[in-house]
Amino acid sequence: MVAAQEQEILNQAAQQLAAAEIADLDKIKSEFLGKRGHIGRMLQQIGQLPPEQRKEAGIKTNAVRSKFEQMLSARREELKRQRFASQEHEAVDVTLAGRGPRAGALHPISQVTERVAQIFASMGFAVADGPEIEDDFHNFEALNHPEDHPARSMHDTFYLQDGRLLRTHTSPVQIRYLKSNSRPVRIIAPGRCYRVDNDATHSPMFHQVEGLWVDDQVRFSDLKGILLAFFSEFFEDASLQVRFRPSYFPFTEPSAECDIKLRGKWLEVAGCGMVHPNVLAAGGHDPQLCQGWAFGTGLDRLAMLRYGFGDLRALFENDLRFLAQFA
Ligand code: PHE
Repeated sequence: MVAAQEQEILNQAAQQLAAAEIADLDKIKSEFLGKRGHIGRMLQQIGQLPPEQRKEAGIKTNAVRSKFEQMLSARREELKRQRFASQEHEAVDVTLAGRGPRAGALHPISQVTERVAQIFASMGFAVADGPEIEDDFHNFEALNHPEDHPARSMHDTFYLQDGRLLRTHTSPVQIRYLKSNSRPVRIIAPGRCYRVDNDATHSPMFHQVEGLWVDDQVRFSDLKGILLAFFSEFFEDASLQVRFRPSYFPFTEPSAECDIKLRGKWLEVAGCGMVHPNVLAAGGHDPQLCQGWAFGTGLDRLAMLRYGFGDLRALFENDLRFLAQFA
């Protein structure tokens, strides 16, 4: 039970608290609880009461004090909440400098792909693409690998359960493009390829770019000229040299490996050759009436050579410290 005098004190406290700001609360607290405050005085008076009244007075005073303390802390919470809520709307300091968008960067493979496409576009090549999930026909059969052809084992192929496969090279795009286009065919086809392979210079997923030029008369010397022009431009080296070594691919005849001399060292950079007559026929073009060349090169390797890093896997680990260097 709170008697009239105590109720009076609490009413007064309620009034003052209702009008208070956060900064006023400590002052109000001491006005009530301090030695000479309203409640403080009540406490002191207890000592002057006859002993038999002290207990009851003590209980009353403590009840008033704890009620006051409750009111005080409730008001403090309420004021804090109000201040917080208003900050959400008003705390924008319009004088601060803007933050600006944080620009990311293209992945080095994307940058290299764009650069390759740009150089070939300047020589009249269009960009084509094809599916990464291929069938045996486009990845092997039409590229002149009969079913028991030993060259199939050159490719460690990922097979799907339904018999389809992840393309092991970009060469199937040759077939797809030849089938649906008339001559002249002059394309590059960049994209992902897959082989069961994993070390510092091989990743199970990697990137190639295919080149294909088919027309009534296209010669091996055109291939040499185009690859020389491309690699000189790509590596920004006007005196870059290329050389061709005999090689073997089922889908080209004759076939060659193309090397470039970069910083004094010969490096193997592409497989190439004259498109095999069987491939032209599989693509719907009469090998009696046309000829052409094709090449395939690894974009990951071109990126490594251009930017000078040694471990291919860095391209696929998504470590921002590595990727940020290509911004
Ligand atoms: N597809 C071949 C490979 O992945 C490269 C190549 C393409 C060779 C075109 C000749 C002609 O190794």
